[in-house]
Amino acid sequence: MRRKVKEMGRKGSARRASTAEIQRFSLGRRIEHFLLMISVNVLAFTGLPQKYFYTGWGQRIIQLLGGIEQTRFIHRTFALVLVGVSVYHLGTLLWQVLRGVSGSPPMALTMKDFRDMVDDFRYLLGFTKERPRYDRFDYQQKLDYWFVVWGTTIFIITGFIMWFPEWISRYLPGIVIPAARVAHGGEALLAVYAVILWHFYAAHFRPQVFPFDPAMWTGKITLKRLREEHPLEYERIIKTLGTPRDAEAQTAVCSEENEGPPGPV
Ligand code: HEM
Repeated sequence: MRRKVKEMGRKGSARRASTAEIQRFSLGRRIEHFLLMISVNVLAFTGLPQKYFYTGWGQRIIQLLGGIEQTRFIHRTFALVLVGVSVYHLGTLLWQVLRGVSGSPPMALTMKDFRDMVDDFRYLLGFTKERPRYDRFDYQQKLDYWFVVWGTTIFIITGFIMWFPEWISRYLPGIVIPAARVAHGGEALLAVYAVILWHFYAAHFRPQVFPFDPAMWTGKITLKRLREEHPLEYERIIKTLGTPRDAEAQTAVCSEENEGPPGPV
């Protein structure tokens, strides 16, 4: 895929450097992220009232949705959307392997991520003035991604156990069905907390981007932000393109394999 670097400003190189944008996420990744966001929100909105059916708010939401049967129908429908997004995502990863794309996948956790985490804690505690230098994704973004992978796996396994209990109990002891229900509901709470406490802060409420990071909507990021937040990736791109000014003015050839999986929920 060709990655476009667009010149935005015309009043001097400093201003240009701060406003020039680079393509960070393809349309496919953005659609994936959008469907993930919609499906998880609808699933939480239709699942949690079932878990807390004995509360006033739980019953009001179920009534609002047209009753328990309708609520369950919406839940299962959006569960299929989530399964579809997951299959598509795995398919794109498999496709990259089949195309022989080399190098470690951008979301793979490496020793550098663990070192970065320790160094970031040292920075935050005031032991050093230097922040770690990140590549395409920092350790927080990678952990955010793996939370989604973990959660989705649990939801799909336990959700289908609850969906097809007769079939499952032919092969597994009956106890797995209530156990799946407990795990499913517990994971749902964990997912909601993770989105509110971790994802909202890491993706939107950080001082650098507050109140909203539009990268997953526009697909773009300014070169200035790329330099500050992902200096190793920035340097690699500049090396390919020449000077930062060249980078602003030309279209860079960057392969789809460099494009990471979507951001988290
Ligand atoms: C592919 C994914 C999913 C599948 C197949 C699935 C399926 C199910 C099924 C079959 C039920 C039982 C109610 C019913 O019969 O409709 C259920 C309940 C529930 N789901 Fe999901 N679900 C999925 C994802 C999610 C997600 C992403 C959340 C929240 C973020 C969630 C939250 C809940 C909750 C809280 C309950 C109630 C559990 C209880 O009664 O204790 N589900 N789900």
